[in-house]
Amino acid sequence: MSLYEEKILPHIIDRACSMGQVMNLRSQVVPQARGTVLEVGMGSGLNLEFYDADKVDLVYGLEPSRGMRKKARPNLAKSKVKVEWLDLPGEQIPLADNSVDTVLLTFTLCTIPDWQAALEQMKRVLRPDGELLFLEHGQSPHQSTRTWQNRITPAWKKVAGGCHLNRPITELIQQAGFRIMELENLYVPKAPKIAGYIYKGRARHI
Ligand SMILES: C[S@@+](CC[C@H](N)C(=O)[O-])C[C@H]1O[C@@H](n2cnc3c(N)ncnc32)[C@H](O)[C@@H]1O
Repeated sequence: MSLYEEKILPHIIDRACSMGQVMNLRSQVVPQARGTVLEVGMGSGLNLEFYDADKVDLVYGLEPSRGMRKKARPNLAKSKVKVEWLDLPGEQIPLADNSVDTVLLTFTLCTIPDWQAALEQMKRVLRPDGELLFLEHGQSPHQSTRTWQNRITPAWKKVAGGCHLNRPITELIQQAGFRIMELENLYVPKAPKIAGYIYKGRARHI
């Protein structure tokens, strides 16, 4: 792992993902988690403060990057919920079928190389009555923004840890066999439009 991936990128991601407006969106999504939770791409643990400890038994924090897991230490130390790390990618979730009540996905579907395999794994481990909670950025519905997203993504991916600006988040979730139960789209105020088109919602098994 290079110095950039180990130290610099985790710092940049942590700063970019902890902007006030983004934290506000997290506070609307994360408290809905319940029971046994799988957080895919836990990153620096920015969601931990928003879990409702009365509703959550255990959080599996799946995070393949050692640098991100290190960056999460201060947030883990403050966490009121119990967290168990899974140091593998989302394409290889090492949990039993139907074993989690909630899958939480925040700003991660943009980055996972094989998004289809990862979503299939999430569906496999999610109980039939469980929920996938998502808060992601992705493809804008506005043509001019979308054109720039497509232009910039090849270079952006190289410096932003594999992040795609242009993934059509709800289509991907639906293609993997989930039913969208609730969806809100918005631009993060004051954020660059190419990176700030948000998909926030809940999905279940079809
Ligand atoms: C932009 S960060 C978001 C982190 C965190 N979810 C948040 O909301 O702050 C994307 C995260 O996805 C992780 N990631 C990269 N490839 C992954 C994969 N194949 N499976 C799961 N997570 C992955 C990265 O290491 C990084 O921590």
